[in-house]
Amino acid sequence: MLYNEYVILEHDFTLTVPQIRASIERISAVLGTTYFSGDEIIRYAELMQVYSGAMREVSTKLENLDEEFHVRNFHNPIHHMECRLKSIESTIDKLKRKHLPINCDSIEYELTDIAGIRVICNYIDDVYNVAQTLAAQSDITVLRTKDYIAKPKPNGYRSLHLIVQVPVFLSTGPRLTAVEVQLRTIAMDYWASLEHRLRYKNDIDESRKLAHAQELLDCAHDLADIEQRMQHIHQDLG
Ligand code: GTP
Ligand code: MG
Repeated sequence: MLYNEYVILEHDFTLTVPQIRASIERISAVLGTTYFSGDEIIRYAELMQVYSGAMREVSTKLENLDEEFHVRNFHNPIHHMECRLKSIESTIDKLKRKHLPINCDSIEYELTDIAGIRVICNYIDDVYNVAQTLAAQSDITVLRTKDYIAKPKPNGYRSLHLIVQVPVFLSTGPRLTAVEVQLRTIAMDYWASLEHRLRYKNDIDESRKLAHAQELLDCAHDLADIEQRMQHIHQDLG
Protein backbone atom coordinates (compact mmCIF):
# COMPACT_ATOMS: atom_id res chain seq x y z
CA MET A 1 0.00 0.00 0.00
CA LEU A 2 1.41 3.34 -1.05
CA TYR A 3 -0.92 5.84 0.54
CA ASN A 4 -4.50 5.92 1.82
CA GLU A 5 -4.21 6.03 5.57
CA TYR A 6 -4.75 9.31 7.35
CA VAL A 7 -1.44 10.04 9.09
CA ILE A 8 0.01 12.87 11.13
CA LEU A 9 1.07 15.87 9.15
CA GLU A 10 4.85 15.45 9.24
CA HIS A 11 4.60 12.44 6.95
CA ASP A 12 6.58 12.71 3.69
CA PHE A 13 4.48 11.66 0.70
CA THR A 14 7.14 12.12 -1.96
CA LEU A 15 7.50 9.02 -4.13
CA THR A 16 9.78 8.55 -7.11
CA VAL A 17 8.62 7.40 -10.54
CA PRO A 18 10.29 3.93 -10.13
CA GLN A 19 8.50 3.44 -6.78
CA ILE A 20 5.17 4.37 -8.33
CA ARG A 21 5.86 2.21 -11.41
CA ALA A 22 6.62 -0.81 -9.21
CA SER A 23 3.46 -0.30 -7.24
CA ILE A 24 1.26 0.17 -10.31
CA GLU A 25 2.76 -2.96 -11.91
CA ARG A 26 1.99 -4.94 -8.76
CA ILE A 27 -1.62 -3.70 -8.67
CA SER A 28 -2.07 -4.28 -12.42
CA ALA A 29 -0.82 -7.87 -11.99
CA VAL A 30 -3.29 -8.48 -9.14
CA LEU A 31 -6.19 -6.98 -11.07
CA GLY A 32 -5.17 -8.65 -14.33
CA THR A 33 -5.23 -5.41 -16.38
CA THR A 34 -2.46 -2.94 -17.13
CA TYR A 35 -3.25 0.44 -15.64
CA PHE A 36 -1.28 3.66 -16.17
CA SER A 37 1.39 2.43 -18.56
CA GLY A 38 4.28 4.41 -20.07
CA ASP A 39 3.94 8.19 -19.89
CA GLU A 40 0.83 7.89 -17.73
CA ILE A 41 3.01 6.65 -14.86
CA ILE A 42 5.19 9.73 -15.06
CA ARG A 43 2.09 11.93 -15.20
CA TYR A 44 0.62 10.05 -12.24
CA ALA A 45 3.80 10.67 -10.22
CA GLU A 46 3.70 14.37 -11.18
CA LEU A 47 0.03 14.60 -10.23
CA MET A 48 0.70 13.06 -6.81
CA GLN A 49 3.47 15.61 -6.25
CA VAL A 50 0.98 18.42 -7.01
CA TYR A 51 -1.65 16.93 -4.66
CA SER A 52 0.97 16.55 -1.97
CA GLY A 53 1.90 20.23 -2.47
CA ALA A 54 -1.77 21.27 -2.28
CA MET A 55 -2.14 19.33 0.97
CA ARG A 56 0.88 21.16 2.37
CA GLU A 57 -0.49 24.54 1.25
CA VAL A 58 -3.83 23.97 2.96
CA SER A 59 -2.35 22.44 6.10
CA THR A 60 0.04 25.39 6.48
CA LYS A 61 -2.92 27.76 6.22
CA LEU A 62 -4.71 25.79 8.93
CA GLU A 63 -1.64 25.78 11.18
CA ASN A 64 -1.31 29.53 10.78
CA LEU A 65 -4.98 30.05 11.64
CA ASP A 66 -4.64 27.84 14.70
CA GLU A 67 -1.64 29.81 15.90
CA GLU A 68 -3.39 33.14 15.30
CA PHE A 69 -6.46 32.01 17.31
CA HIS A 70 -4.14 30.95 20.09
CA VAL A 71 -2.34 34.29 20.23
CA ARG A 72 -5.58 36.29 20.11
CA ASN A 73 -7.88 34.10 22.22
CA PHE A 74 -5.59 31.84 24.27
CA HIS A 75 -7.33 28.90 22.68
CA ASN A 76 -6.22 26.43 20.01
CA PRO A 77 -9.24 25.48 17.88
CA ILE A 78 -7.36 22.61 16.21
CA HIS A 79 -6.51 19.59 18.32
CA HIS A 80 -4.50 17.91 15.57
CA MET A 81 -4.51 17.28 11.83
CA GLU A 82 -4.02 14.20 9.69
CA CYS A 83 -3.69 13.90 5.96
CA ARG A 84 -3.63 11.28 3.24
CA LEU A 85 -3.19 10.82 -0.47
CA LYS A 86 -5.66 8.37 -1.98
CA SER A 87 -3.97 5.07 -2.82
CA ILE A 88 -3.78 3.83 -6.39
CA GLU A 89 -6.06 0.90 -5.45
CA SER A 90 -8.75 3.20 -4.02
CA THR A 91 -8.41 5.57 -6.96
CA ILE A 92 -8.92 2.75 -9.48
CA ASP A 93 -11.87 1.46 -7.41
CA LYS A 94 -13.49 4.89 -7.35
CA LEU A 95 -13.01 5.48 -11.10
CA LYS A 96 -14.58 2.07 -11.77
CA ARG A 97 -17.47 2.86 -9.42
CA LYS A 98 -18.10 6.12 -11.26
CA HIS A 99 -17.76 4.40 -14.67
CA LEU A 100 -14.89 6.72 -15.63
CA PRO A 101 -11.92 5.80 -17.81
CA ILE A 102 -8.95 4.74 -15.68
CA ASN A 103 -6.41 7.38 -16.60
CA CYS A 104 -4.80 10.58 -15.30
CA ASP A 105 -7.34 12.88 -17.00
CA SER A 106 -10.13 11.27 -14.97
CA ILE A 107 -8.12 11.66 -11.77
CA GLU A 108 -7.27 15.27 -12.46
CA TYR A 109 -10.64 16.46 -13.75
CA GLU A 110 -13.21 14.17 -12.13
CA LEU A 111 -11.97 13.30 -8.62
CA THR A 112 -11.74 15.85 -5.83
CA ASP A 113 -10.64 13.65 -2.96
CA ILE A 114 -7.14 12.53 -3.97
CA ALA A 115 -5.68 14.86 -1.35
CA GLY A 116 -7.41 14.77 2.04
CA ILE A 117 -6.91 16.65 5.28
CA ARG A 118 -8.72 15.75 8.47
CA VAL A 119 -8.91 18.62 10.95
CA ILE A 120 -9.79 17.46 14.44
CA CYS A 121 -11.05 20.39 16.51
CA ASN A 122 -11.76 20.75 20.20
CA TYR A 123 -15.33 22.11 19.98
CA ILE A 124 -18.09 22.41 17.37
CA ASP A 125 -17.70 26.22 17.26
CA ASP A 126 -14.04 25.67 16.40
CA VAL A 127 -15.04 23.52 13.43
CA TYR A 128 -17.15 26.32 11.93
CA ASN A 129 -14.65 29.07 12.81
CA VAL A 130 -11.78 27.23 11.18
CA ALA A 131 -13.88 26.36 8.11
CA GLN A 132 -15.11 29.95 7.69
CA THR A 133 -11.70 31.56 8.08
CA LEU A 134 -10.09 29.08 5.69
CA ALA A 135 -12.87 29.56 3.11
CA ALA A 136 -12.51 33.36 3.35
CA GLN A 137 -8.87 33.35 2.23
CA SER A 138 -8.38 35.03 -1.13
CA ASP A 139 -6.60 32.11 -2.81
CA ILE A 140 -9.06 29.48 -1.57
CA THR A 141 -12.18 28.58 -3.55
CA VAL A 142 -14.78 26.34 -1.94
CA LEU A 143 -16.05 23.98 -4.61
CA ARG A 144 -18.47 22.03 -2.40
CA THR A 145 -19.65 21.89 1.21
CA LYS A 146 -21.37 18.98 2.95
CA ASP A 147 -22.50 19.78 6.46
CA TYR A 148 -23.07 16.44 8.16
CA ILE A 149 -23.09 18.25 11.53
CA ALA A 150 -26.21 20.27 10.75
CA LYS A 151 -27.64 17.21 9.00
CA PRO A 152 -25.96 13.99 10.22
CA LYS A 153 -25.97 10.91 8.00
CA PRO A 154 -28.62 8.28 8.88
CA ASN A 155 -25.94 6.11 10.54
CA GLY A 156 -25.06 9.02 12.88
CA TYR A 157 -21.90 10.20 11.06
CA ARG A 158 -21.12 13.87 11.72
CA SER A 159 -18.39 16.07 10.17
CA LEU A 160 -18.14 19.16 8.00
CA HIS A 161 -16.69 18.38 4.57
CA LEU A 162 -15.30 21.02 2.25
CA ILE A 163 -13.77 20.55 -1.16
CA VAL A 164 -11.43 23.49 -1.59
CA GLN A 165 -9.28 24.51 -4.49
CA VAL A 166 -5.86 26.04 -3.89
CA PRO A 167 -3.13 27.18 -6.29
CA VAL A 168 0.08 25.17 -6.18
CA PHE A 169 2.91 27.18 -7.70
CA LEU A 170 4.90 25.01 -10.11
CA SER A 171 7.80 26.03 -12.37
CA THR A 172 5.21 26.29 -15.16
CA GLY A 173 2.89 28.53 -13.12
CA PRO A 174 0.02 28.08 -10.66
CA ARG A 175 -2.01 24.88 -10.80
CA LEU A 176 -5.44 24.99 -9.13
CA THR A 177 -5.78 21.78 -7.14
CA ALA A 178 -8.65 20.28 -5.13
CA VAL A 179 -8.25 19.14 -1.53
CA GLU A 180 -10.95 17.44 0.58
CA VAL A 181 -11.02 18.93 4.08
CA GLN A 182 -12.94 16.97 6.73
CA LEU A 183 -13.47 19.02 9.88
CA ARG A 184 -14.79 17.36 13.00
CA THR A 185 -14.52 17.40 16.77
CA ILE A 186 -12.59 14.90 18.87
CA ALA A 187 -15.88 13.16 19.73
CA MET A 188 -16.93 12.94 16.08
CA ASP A 189 -13.52 11.50 15.18
CA TYR A 190 -13.68 8.99 18.01
CA TRP A 191 -17.10 7.87 16.77
CA ALA A 192 -16.09 7.76 13.07
CA SER A 193 -13.07 5.54 13.80
CA LEU A 194 -15.21 2.89 15.46
CA GLU A 195 -17.94 3.11 12.82
CA HIS A 196 -15.27 2.72 10.13
CA ARG A 197 -14.04 -0.47 11.83
CA LEU A 198 -17.56 -1.86 11.97
CA ARG A 199 -18.17 -1.01 8.31
CA TYR A 200 -15.17 -2.98 7.10
CA LYS A 201 -15.62 -5.91 9.46
CA ASN A 202 -16.92 -8.77 7.36
CA ASP A 203 -16.30 -11.73 9.63
CA ILE A 204 -19.28 -11.09 11.95
CA ASP A 205 -22.86 -12.04 11.24
CA GLU A 206 -25.40 -9.55 9.95
CA SER A 207 -27.53 -9.44 13.11
CA ARG A 208 -24.53 -8.53 15.30
CA LYS A 209 -23.52 -5.90 12.78
CA LEU A 210 -27.04 -4.42 12.85
CA ALA A 211 -27.09 -4.37 16.66
CA HIS A 212 -23.75 -2.58 16.75
CA ALA A 213 -24.94 -0.10 14.12
CA GLN A 214 -28.00 0.73 16.23
CA GLU A 215 -25.84 1.09 19.34
CA LEU A 216 -23.47 3.37 17.41
CA LEU A 217 -26.40 5.55 16.33
CA ASP A 218 -27.39 5.92 20.00
CA CYS A 219 -23.76 6.76 20.85
CA ALA A 220 -23.74 9.45 18.13
CA HIS A 221 -26.77 11.14 19.76
CA ASP A 222 -25.24 10.89 23.23
CA LEU A 223 -21.90 12.27 22.06
CA ALA A 224 -23.64 15.19 20.31
CA ASP A 225 -25.45 15.99 23.55
CA ILE A 226 -22.29 15.77 25.70
CA GLU A 227 -20.45 17.93 23.21
CA GLN A 228 -23.10 20.65 23.44
CA ARG A 229 -22.92 20.62 27.24
CA MET A 230 -19.12 20.80 27.24
CA GLN A 231 -19.20 23.59 24.66
CA HIS A 232 -21.43 25.61 27.04
CA ILE A 233 -19.02 25.13 29.96
CA HIS A 234 -16.12 26.09 27.70
CA GLN A 235 -17.96 29.25 26.56
CA ASP A 236 -18.96 30.15 30.09
CA LEU A 237 -15.35 29.92 31.26
CA GLY A 238 -14.54 32.51 28.56
P1 GTP B 1 -16.87 8.94 -1.19
O1 GTP B 1 -17.10 8.24 -2.49
O2 GTP B 1 -16.83 8.01 0.00
O3 GTP B 1 -15.66 9.82 -1.24
O4 GTP B 1 -18.16 9.83 -0.96
P2 GTP B 1 -18.52 11.32 -1.37
O5 GTP B 1 -17.67 11.76 -2.50
O6 GTP B 1 -20.00 11.45 -1.51
O7 GTP B 1 -18.02 12.12 -0.12
P3 GTP B 1 -18.53 12.36 1.37
O8 GTP B 1 -18.24 13.80 1.58
O9 GTP B 1 -19.89 11.87 1.67
O10 GTP B 1 -17.49 11.46 2.20
C1 GTP B 1 -16.13 11.62 2.05
C2 GTP B 1 -15.36 10.90 3.13
O11 GTP B 1 -15.91 11.17 4.44
C3 GTP B 1 -15.34 9.40 3.06
O12 GTP B 1 -14.39 8.95 2.15
C4 GTP B 1 -14.99 9.03 4.52
O13 GTP B 1 -13.61 9.27 4.79
C5 GTP B 1 -15.79 10.06 5.29
N1 GTP B 1 -17.14 9.54 5.58
C6 GTP B 1 -18.29 9.83 4.92
N2 GTP B 1 -19.33 9.18 5.44
C7 GTP B 1 -18.85 8.43 6.47
C8 GTP B 1 -19.46 7.51 7.40
O14 GTP B 1 -20.66 7.25 7.38
N3 GTP B 1 -18.62 6.95 8.33
C9 GTP B 1 -17.28 7.21 8.38
N4 GTP B 1 -16.56 6.60 9.32
N5 GTP B 1 -16.69 8.06 7.51
C10 GTP B 1 -17.45 8.65 6.56
MG1 MG C 1 -13.71 9.90 -0.59
